[in-house]
Amino acid sequence: MEQTPTFDDIVAARELLAGRLPATPMWSYPALDAVIGATVHVKHENVQPVGAFKVRGGLTLLSGMPPEQRARGLVTYSTGNHAQSMAYACTAWGVPCTVVMPTAVSATKVRAARSLGATVVLHGDDLGGSQERAEKLAADEDRLLVSPGDTPALLAGVGTAYLEVFEARPDLDAVVVPIGSGTGAAAACLVAAELAPNCRVIGVQSAEAPAAHDSWRAGTCVQRPNRTVVEGLATGRGFALPQGVLRTGLADFHLVSDAEIATAQRLLASHAHTLAEGAGAAALAAVLAHAEEFAGQRIAVMCSGGNASAAEIAALADAPPAGGPAPTETAPPGR
Ligand SMILES: Cc1ncc(COP(=O)(O)O)c(C=O)c1O
Repeated sequence: MEQTPTFDDIVAARELLAGRLPATPMWSYPALDAVIGATVHVKHENVQPVGAFKVRGGLTLLSGMPPEQRARGLVTYSTGNHAQSMAYACTAWGVPCTVVMPTAVSATKVRAARSLGATVVLHGDDLGGSQERAEKLAADEDRLLVSPGDTPALLAGVGTAYLEVFEARPDLDAVVVPIGSGTGAAAACLVAAELAPNCRVIGVQSAEAPAAHDSWRAGTCVQRPNRTVVEGLATGRGFALPQGVLRTGLADFHLVSDAEIATAQRLLASHAHTLAEGAGAAALAAVLAHAEEFAGQRIAVMCSGGNASAAEIAALADAPPAGGPAPTETAPPGR
């Protein structure tokens, strides 16, 4: 098993990223606060150069690699944003990158990874199928195989987002984080333990792909079917490295439906002026679904990505489901 990064590794990752990625903004919006009945800080990782927080991990991994290993290039597997992160980082270093993605992944993400310079191989019904092909390619080409979930440098890199969150707001009551493999949430736990020990870190996954959630509840990594349309949360299995941190670090783990995530995407568009892909809206969806748990508190939601597909963008104009928040409706604070 890979060695778990420490808080100091995350601080060191920030040094590696200096000059490559500026800090992202974190804003609160009175209209959104009024709907939720809490002060909600939205961490805008959707404005990263590849549209997602994952870019922090890719650049950290490449920056810290021995030059001779880096020069051979990498092979990895991904549902989308990790692919773009690795492609972006490999192009920055001028080394080859091959990404295996499930065949059903959105055309937007395939196009984006290719335009960033990656060779994209479409293989497998899910991430497990892609992983098998990636393992074979890496062995055949004598290149490093990068696991999207079990690579310590990726976890340390994405942790730099939480240095920014907690340095800006050390008084948060909770930070809510979408989970696929769990690297982002595990990093949030490591940073919160140092900078904001009273802050609860709460994970969120789609109920239609609950592998990380069920692994956390079971205390061991399990496999579950992926029926969600929310790429990024659809990993199909627990990953040992992040699960090891989440086991003690995570305060709670909520499941939300894909429909609740779509409602949160519309709320972010209408009340926070921002485009989130499903995974980027999942944290807000959990806050909406558990409004009583967060009432009156100061919370941060990780808007982890903005790479919405054409279908997701079209759905932003849909009417809200019965009982959900209307896009222009606000409720009094404290509801
Ligand atoms: C936009 C977005 N949010 C959240 C996640 C989940 O992150 P992690 O795999 O670190 O749990 C991903 C994973 O790819 C993602 O792309």
